[in-house]
Amino acid sequence: MKQPDLSIRLGPLNLQNPVMTASGTFGYGPEYHRLYDVNLLGGIVTKSITLKPRPGNPAPRIYETPSGMLNSIGLQNVGVEAFVKTKLPFLRGLRGPKVIVSLAGESVSEYVALARRLDGEKGIDGFELNISCPNCEQGGMEFGVDPRGTARLVKAVAAATRRPLIVKLSPNVTDVVAIARAAAGAGAQILSLINTLVGLAVDPARWKPRIATVTGGLSGPAIRPVALRMVWQVHRALPKIPLIGIGGILTAADAVEFMLCGASAFQVGTANYVNPQAPVEILQGLRTYLTERKLVSAKKLVGGLKVPRVLRGIPKVVAG
Ligand code: FUM
Repeated sequence: MKQPDLSIRLGPLNLQNPVMTASGTFGYGPEYHRLYDVNLLGGIVTKSITLKPRPGNPAPRIYETPSGMLNSIGLQNVGVEAFVKTKLPFLRGLRGPKVIVSLAGESVSEYVALARRLDGEKGIDGFELNISCPNCEQGGMEFGVDPRGTARLVKAVAAATRRPLIVKLSPNVTDVVAIARAAAGAGAQILSLINTLVGLAVDPARWKPRIATVTGGLSGPAIRPVALRMVWQVHRALPKIPLIGIGGILTAADAVEFMLCGASAFQVGTANYVNPQAPVEILQGLRTYLTERKLVSAKKLVGGLKVPRVLRGIPKVVAG
């Protein structure tokens, strides 16, 4: 039988397959290229870049929780100039994956300056606006929990770049659809969701938080049902906007769940720490899943979730 077609259209981007790696879990690419050929991937999202280098938050800043992980890295990164000089050349040399640079800032003007600085650089296929980092005192999630703040930021960045714009949404909101609508209305061509959920872990022996900044962002399989619910909600409300699903994907079956809920592509994050081969194993697993079901294309999965026509008993905020 012919191999299934894994290519995916994500708004203005054509991906060779829907497997992407999530920002902050994949360095800048070369770290994993030592382990396998990252040209196999559909997309790579860099660690969030800021205008100036950031040393990040004090340690301890990672703690394993049941089926998940808390982190408070604090957007540690090399800063935009070092990124262009020392990290971008590797990414520019890749043949397969779309290269997405994640942008973070403390103010609208910082995000805009970053987008302007990187706009003319070769080897970048798009930006992912991180408006959802829960671990910084200023900026980050501040923008992503308020529809007006989201719209103001996205509009300003969209005007500063010709590159495709992905906006990464926070789950730490009452109504994710309102934020998604604001981002799409302001110029986001693609939405990725979800970033981490704010959490706290305690050491009962020392009466202390496990993370130096007290709270951190929870990721991993523990958050997958929340992520699926939000992807499904946003897809129902805004069926035309392409979505990238993120949240605890460990296997091809997990990835299929996101695609059925409406994601055209997905990002593998925390799994990279448990099994660095996870993205390529998921790619192979997806191929097998489609072949076994005689599905000719991965596109057939997108939004295929069969739901009862009458959604009785589902809270309005969720049912949309
Ligand atoms: O702390 C961090 O660097 C996390 C970033 C994020 O969740 O976006």
